[in-house]
Amino acid sequence: MSAEDNSPIPDYLTKSRLDGRNFVVLGGGLGMGRQTVHALSQAGAARVMVVDIEQSRADNVAAEISGGLGWSGDITKRDEVKRLASDAVGALGRVHGIVDIVGMAQWAALLDLSDSMLERDLDINFRHAFLASQEFARHMVEQGGGTMVFIASVSGKTSAPMHAGYGAAKAALMAWVQSLAVELGPHQIRANAIAPGTILTPRMEAAFTPEQRQANEAVSPLGRMGRMEDIASTALFLSSDLSAFITGRTIVVDGGVRAKFPYGTL
Ligand SMILES: NC(=O)c1ccc[n+]([C@@H]2O[C@H](COP(=O)([O-])OP(=O)(O)OC[C@H]3O[C@@H](n4cnc5c(N)ncnc54)[C@H](O)[C@@H]3O)[C@@H](O)[C@H]2O)c1
Repeated sequence: MSAEDNSPIPDYLTKSRLDGRNFVVLGGGLGMGRQTVHALSQAGAARVMVVDIEQSRADNVAAEISGGLGWSGDITKRDEVKRLASDAVGALGRVHGIVDIVGMAQWAALLDLSDSMLERDLDINFRHAFLASQEFARHMVEQGGGTMVFIASVSGKTSAPMHAGYGAAKAALMAWVQSLAVELGPHQIRANAIAPGTILTPRMEAAFTPEQRQANEAVSPLGRMGRMEDIASTALFLSSDLSAFITGRTIVVDGGVRAKFPYGTL
């Protein structure tokens, strides 16, 4: 102990643990969602409800961990999210945190984006976060706190060429998280987002040509694309007490791409 500083030293490793806490992972049946389910479980989470529109995906991932529970439904619909929150509280007792991973881009030139495509962009990238945060916040307010983590995208932080509706919906999600943090902070509810760069998910793995893959690797200072575990690790950090004073923020996980000077040589 120094004469100048005798402040107590917390147990930092304990802060990374989630022992006895229960989580709901929306879109947990595949890719980043599945990895996040495992990350939470490895950190000691007691129960993790795995939510997916595909029942088999939810059940399979739930069966991979101890304390897993599969739940199937369409979380872009208010009634379904109400049912989810009620089932989660019924089965888990208390929900300490949610991680919402659902999202998908549609590709079209901005001038060809139809009304129905924009509706879809908003449903699949924003509406479920709006619904889930409301329905679970009601429970977390009663319980005295909780954490919420949402997956946004770097496409909501810059232009989104050929996927402008997606970019706009993800930008709305990041704005929503700031309002959640401010309005719910007094109830000890923290809300944050993660903005991934290109991440090699099973879907991306199948869609990429070797040239696209190479181009995405070359643009990153780290010389590689993101891995699903890069996102799951960040979701774990934001769900644990290691991030106890972080709320309303979006953490960019892009291997440094957005840190680059955008104007070439001056
Ligand atoms: N892969 C990337 O490079 C990348 C980059 C930036 C952001 N993101 C974002 O990361 C997130 C995960 O992307 P991904 O490619 O791993 O997703 P994914 O499609 O592999 O997995 C999402 C899961 O959500 C489920 N799901 C879809 N619609 C649902 C609904 N209405 N209700 C319940 N479940 C539903 C799917 O069945 C699937 O299992 C998304 O929000 C995406 O926008 C991805």
